[in-house]
Amino acid sequence: MEIRFEQLSKVWPDGTKALCEIDLVIPAGQFCVLLGHSGAGKSTLLRCVNGLENPTAGQVFVDGQAVASQSLPTLRRRIAMVHQHFGLVSRASGAANVMAGAVSALPLWRVLTGLYPEALKRKACHLLGAVGLDEVHLRRRAEQLSGGQQQRLGLARAFMLNPAIILADEPVASLDPTLGREVLELLRNQAREQGTTVLCSLHQLDLARAFADRIVALHQGRIIFDGAPDALNARDLAVIYARGGNAAAPAPVRLQEAV
Ligand SMILES: Nc1ncnc2c1ncn2[C@@H]1O[C@H](COP(=O)(O)OP(=O)(O)OP(=O)(O)O)[C@@H](O)[C@H]1O
Ligand SMILES: [Mg+2]
Repeated sequence: MEIRFEQLSKVWPDGTKALCEIDLVIPAGQFCVLLGHSGAGKSTLLRCVNGLENPTAGQVFVDGQAVASQSLPTLRRRIAMVHQHFGLVSRASGAANVMAGAVSALPLWRVLTGLYPEALKRKACHLLGAVGLDEVHLRRRAEQLSGGQQQRLGLARAFMLNPAIILADEPVASLDPTLGREVLELLRNQAREQGTTVLCSLHQLDLARAFADRIVALHQGRIIFDGAPDALNARDLAVIYARGGNAAAPAPVRLQEAV
């Protein structure tokens, strides 16, 4: 599904401008990486897509429909989120954590009793295999797994409802570089093979270059680069990572068509 931001702005009550008039279209199936210094607005932009934050002005559209006009359960069924700290229930089993990805599509009694449909259980097992875990990890508590294994569980949970969109907020920040690459490979495969639109914030430039179809860089809530990873040059990087994100916003470096 396409994600479209139209003149999206977010101003916090203390006057902080997190996002300023963002216009951006991310086509279905694209793996788009958001770069930018700390505080640039990456998380706020992601959270506006699934209704976790309400914009101050402008709109986000998912598949042409305004996010603001849709209920949170409706959004949850189509948009999954992957977090830096995995967001798992640490004392629950791997299985329970993966199944949690399906709760927005289940009646409440099933969630409360833990009586999940067989088809969903089979799917959880299949997904576990797809992210490189096995049934042993389904039975263990999440807290007994390594960071890389926990993030794989986080991905399996995100894949449970075949989401049209995955929002990933620094999904590899807590992992070592090798595990980080593996997690990004799984996300990229999801975009390539399932046509899932992936919008992913990263701090690791090398990983962004290696995996993204497109890079969008933010600086003080504005887009200052939008293009193919190859197009990112030293000057762009100097601007994106200018010392102190509070320096005056530079003029746009380059705005390109999506690749
Ligand atoms: N709930 C909040 N209330 C007030 N200000 C906030 C809130 N959340 C974020 N901000 C501010 O909005 C701006 C953008 O924050 P955001 O978390 O989107 O940045 P980020 O690019 O994700 O940074 P990081 O790389 O550190 O995660 C920052 O100035 C931040 O302090
Ligand atoms: Mg953030």
